Amino acid sequence: MRLPMLFSPGPVMVEDCVRYSLLHYDICHRGYEFEAMFQDTQQKILKLFQADENYYSLIISGSGTSANETCLSSMFQDKDKVLLLSNGVFGERLEEIIDKYRIPKVKPNYDWAEMITADKAEEALRENPDISVIAMVFHETSTGMINPVGEIGRLAREYDKIFFVDCVSAAGGEFIDVVNNNIDICTGVAGKCVGGFPGSAYVCARESLLRLISADQGKNVYLNLGKHYEIAKKSHQTPNTPNVTLFWALNKALEHILEVEGLENRIARYQKCAKILRDGLRDMGLKFLIPEGQMSNTVTSVFLPANVKLKEFMAAMEDDGHVVYAGKGKYEAMGMFQVANMGRIYPDDCWKFLEVLKRNIEKS
Ligand SMILES: Cc1ncc(COP(=O)(O)O)c(C=O)c1O
Repeated sequence: MRLPMLFSPGPVMVEDCVRYSLLHYDICHRGYEFEAMFQDTQQKILKLFQADENYYSLIISGSGTSANETCLSSMFQDKDKVLLLSNGVFGERLEEIIDKYRIPKVKPNYDWAEMITADKAEEALRENPDISVIAMVFHETSTGMINPVGEIGRLAREYDKIFFVDCVSAAGGEFIDVVNNNIDICTGVAGKCVGGFPGSAYVCARESLLRLISADQGKNVYLNLGKHYEIAKKSHQTPNTPNVTLFWALNKALEHILEVEGLENRIARYQKCAKILRDGLRDMGLKFLIPEGQMSNTVTSVFLPANVKLKEFMAAMEDDGHVVYAGKGKYEAMGMFQVANMGRIYPDDCWKFLEVLKRNIEKS
């Protein structure tokens, strides 16, 4: 049987050691073996974000949205207002959560794929002194753009705001330094650049902030940051029954990235793969959505030639063993697709991918 090659931005193909970790014998989440593994995973998450001793991490059973919702539904007091910097689908997902919990927001106008600027953000901060939190996405996966987290982090420090960053598609793929970027709280998942399975998410936050977030102020029972923090501190456990099996896999994926391949080498591999893909796509005459200098290490958004139909092309690629991702919203109608190089993808896979792509475009 030929296994599909996933060039999609999650789920990703995992290393064998990660897959085999699922075969771990069953353990109870209220036992000391779980507690030891939980603490070990927490430490590894901190390393992923270059966090120092002032940070603490928590693991949430769920997808990336669950970690974002855990934070955003828990960290606001009644009158707190958020400055949301959004330039794509996943910025809008943050907005959906913010609106669902009726958190007052200020949202400067940025189009999808428009670079977020510190000027506009600063203007909003000056005009709205009651803003207490700035929220944004590190890697806007829907376009493949890296947002200026460093610049906005400087503003957060200057204006004394809490800085929340959705790092769901950046963790393990981009260099993230929570200390130097003044990130107070951020999220990530297992099933993207870290190379684990979907279903495990995590939060890395300044502990001084976590101490201020009570379980009572959280507006969600399951996705309650205060409750997660309280139980983790007290007993190194989670409030409810977690997806224990996936904890092993998350731990193994983090071990692989931090101790086997090395975080810097992982990022360098992703950069090398992205370059091979982008050089090849450009040589085929395909056009990119955003300038190459703004692209992440792992997602390339590219348009098909006008005569090629997206749906048929994607099906043909899948038949040929290679899965790509349709552009979201208006981009799909424009014939845009995304090629991701996350997880177990190596340079040779990228060369092969380009051959398959060329064949299928020529055939269409
Ligand atoms: C930046 C970002 N945030 C949030 C999400 C939502 O994650 P999930 O689909 O795992 O809930 C995604 C998913 O791709 C993402 O890329």
